[in-house]
Amino acid sequence: MTSKDWLTKARAENFAIGAFNIDNLDILKAVCTAAVSRKSPIIVEFSQGEVDYFGLENIVDLVKNAREEYKIPLLLNLDHSKKSEQTLKVIEIGGFDNVHFDGSDLGFEENIEEAKKVVSAAHAKGVLVEGEFNRIAGSSQVHTEEIDLEELSKSYTDPKGAAEFVTKTGVDILAPIFGNVHGTFPIEPDLDMSLLKEIREAVGDTFIAMHGGSGIAADQVKEAINVGGIVKVNVNTELRSAFKDAFSESFEENPKEYAYYNLTPDVILAIAAVVEAKIDVFGSANRL
Ligand code: G3H
Ligand code: ZN
Repeated sequence: MTSKDWLTKARAENFAIGAFNIDNLDILKAVCTAAVSRKSPIIVEFSQGEVDYFGLENIVDLVKNAREEYKIPLLLNLDHSKKSEQTLKVIEIGGFDNVHFDGSDLGFEENIEEAKKVVSAAHAKGVLVEGEFNRIAGSSQVHTEEIDLEELSKSYTDPKGAAEFVTKTGVDILAPIFGNVHGTFPIEPDLDMSLLKEIREAVGDTFIAMHGGSGIAADQVKEAINVGGIVKVNVNTELRSAFKDAFSESFEENPKEYAYYNLTPDVILAIAAVVEAKIDVFGSANRL
């Protein structure tokens, strides 16, 4: 099944597929382990820093090998690619199922022009494109500062703009903002479900992705999947945080161990438990 087939199935059957950021090899192993145990399709994704760390060609090979090893539907997404040239290069290299061209730092019109170039190259190769025009606040880490909720609400997606953006660009997936933020914060806003409903109605058949999947209460995520027909939920911070906590513990408890791979089996299990819990919330278990 192609990426489009999976997203279509998710929308028809009312579940979302987790798009998990791969910050290191242990996280990749954990995500695959969880997908196997829950019989779930999965998206693995790499943002710019993660691409720089692994190298593009290594990512393609790692994911290809993981598909063979774990025998699960494993889709590969380029996450928050800010430059159209870089996005086009990834499409050219091949091996990616989806690319997220994030032109939200550009003006609306320029974003549309750049996104159109990406869509045309991607569709020629059967790759799906995700677009974004409102910049999502925060970064994928545990934030200790408070969010200015009033200020944040100014960045929420305008449904009319969403309709114009998807019509003019032809993107397959839209990443709107309706209370979702990157990273976790001491207090997070509730998701604006009525705005999400309006966005869904405005974008027609375009798939909707929810970024900032860490730190949102399970009942809100479930409601957003129902109300918004969300088919993809991006998760990064909770995986990074599980890795850091579990690895620190393993490191402290084994002062005489020098082989990295002997420190990580429990770390992988701890991250896999987080991924399994997300899969349960997204409703993607037993869909193979
Ligand atoms: O694109 C990546 C995600 O939106 C991750 O967000 O770090 O809040 O889970 P998160
Ligand atoms: Zn994101």
